[in-house]
Amino acid sequence: MSASTPLKPMGNEGTVMAEGVDIATVLLAAGQGTRMRSDLAKVLHPILGVPLIVHSVATALAAGSERVVVVVGHQAEAVKDTIRSHFAGSNILFALQAEQNGTGHAVQCAREAVGDARRVLILSGDVPGIQTETLRALQRIQEGVSSPLALATTALSDPTGYGRIVRGASGTPVNIVEHRDATEEEQTIREINVGMYLADAEFLFSSLAHVGTDNAQGEVYLTDIVAMAAAQGEVGSLDIPEGLEMWGINDRVQLAEVEHAMRARTNEQWMRKGVSFTAPDTTTVSTDVLMGQDTLLGRGVRIGPGCEIGSHCRIDEGCVLEGTTLGDNVHVKPYCVLLDSKVGENAQVGPFAHLRPGTLLDANCKVGNFVETKKAHLHKGTKASHLSYLGDCEIGAGSNIGAGTITCNYDGVNKFKTTLGEGVFIGSDTQLVAPVSLGDHAYVGAGSTVTEDVPAGALVISRTPQRNIEGWVAKKKAERDNESD
Ligand code: UD1
Ligand code: CA
Repeated sequence: MSASTPLKPMGNEGTVMAEGVDIATVLLAAGQGTRMRSDLAKVLHPILGVPLIVHSVATALAAGSERVVVVVGHQAEAVKDTIRSHFAGSNILFALQAEQNGTGHAVQCAREAVGDARRVLILSGDVPGIQTETLRALQRIQEGVSSPLALATTALSDPTGYGRIVRGASGTPVNIVEHRDATEEEQTIREINVGMYLADAEFLFSSLAHVGTDNAQGEVYLTDIVAMAAAQGEVGSLDIPEGLEMWGINDRVQLAEVEHAMRARTNEQWMRKGVSFTAPDTTTVSTDVLMGQDTLLGRGVRIGPGCEIGSHCRIDEGCVLEGTTLGDNVHVKPYCVLLDSKVGENAQVGPFAHLRPGTLLDANCKVGNFVETKKAHLHKGTKASHLSYLGDCEIGAGSNIGAGTITCNYDGVNKFKTTLGEGVFIGSDTQLVAPVSLGDHAYVGAGSTVTEDVPAGALVISRTPQRNIEGWVAKKKAERDNESD
């Protein structure tokens, strides 16, 4: 992800090893997620346009975790590929848990990848709403307690299904009992285990080696380390409110609920930073997006991953942007699609424009309705106001592209480039048959098919000359009348 959750470049192992890694994050993501009823692994389902595991990885990196280990099992290759594609260049390692023998076993599988890290932060891969500040708060708590462990807890009105926090005489956690293993009395405890822990690595792995499977599920419970830590001192706990930060996703209903809450939280954060939303419930902004002050997003807008939006921009209803950068003061009119494109300041796009990957509009350009662009660089102030296809082309500054202009960039086998100089005028309904170049200030008469290069300052016209035949209509009518007599 990008700037709001900056990635630490981790390619340089030398530097990392010299100082030693403080915190490695282990993300548990080996489970199948049966209740999703899906061919897609649970952690690959999208939230705000990004697979949900990617949110937790980005948060761990943003919180300063120097090494991230994802424990994969179900659909391991797909999960790995997805994470790699989102975090190229970051220090993400994978550990395989071939059989899902419990959360404790999953962490054991990560041991080698955790390596020399001093502490291990453990998160569930299906809880995408956790925030960096919360991870940092847990870190501070773990640093301040006498045992090697701190964990997050929440009090729930209905704690059914969760592990319960058992507190001892001093008021700190001394054990976690899973719902299925709990006595009736323990089941009345409303404080639950969120599934987020920070532990000293040495303690973690040496304790896990002693955890058995004598429980209702016959699994290695990670939660069994709590009692072991409590034997060494006070276990730290961070109380987080019930809500997005602890909500896991088990089915598609929860997926939609989490997405809704993430959308609301993200949009609220942007409103507090000076971005307006006409109808925030209908507008989706991916978490890695950057936006400037006084930008306005209309109803049903979707700003997808990798977008950077300037200040004082207006993006009207129904627009979809992905991987796109807008300079300041850009107006995108209703129902445009902008993909992997860059638009300079003061430009205007749409309504109903389609900027496909590789489009570069310099400042003050205007691209109007039903214009499609692809790998097209329109230099400063160039206008293509209506009904055009501009693909594989470079168009000099201050040019005017008439309605219905088409770059014929494809001969059925290969793609070719169209190059226009500055201040070129293309009359309406022109076909530019690539490869073709037009010099500065060339002038193309409407309806031309341009197949050969045009020198600077030349007029090119390639249509058949007009003939007017006086009285033709009346003469034809008279002929028809005679025939029918
Ligand atoms: C776990 C906790 C419980 C806590 C709850 C919070 C244990 C024993 N219990 O229960 O105290 O209240 O989370 O949601 O830890 N996973 C693996 N490999 C495995 C098992 C699980 O990678 O072998 C992953 C899952 O994919 C998931 C996470 O670990 O991301 C949690 O597993 P899950 O089965 O949901 O834990 P619970 O039984 O709900
Ligand atoms: Ca389980």
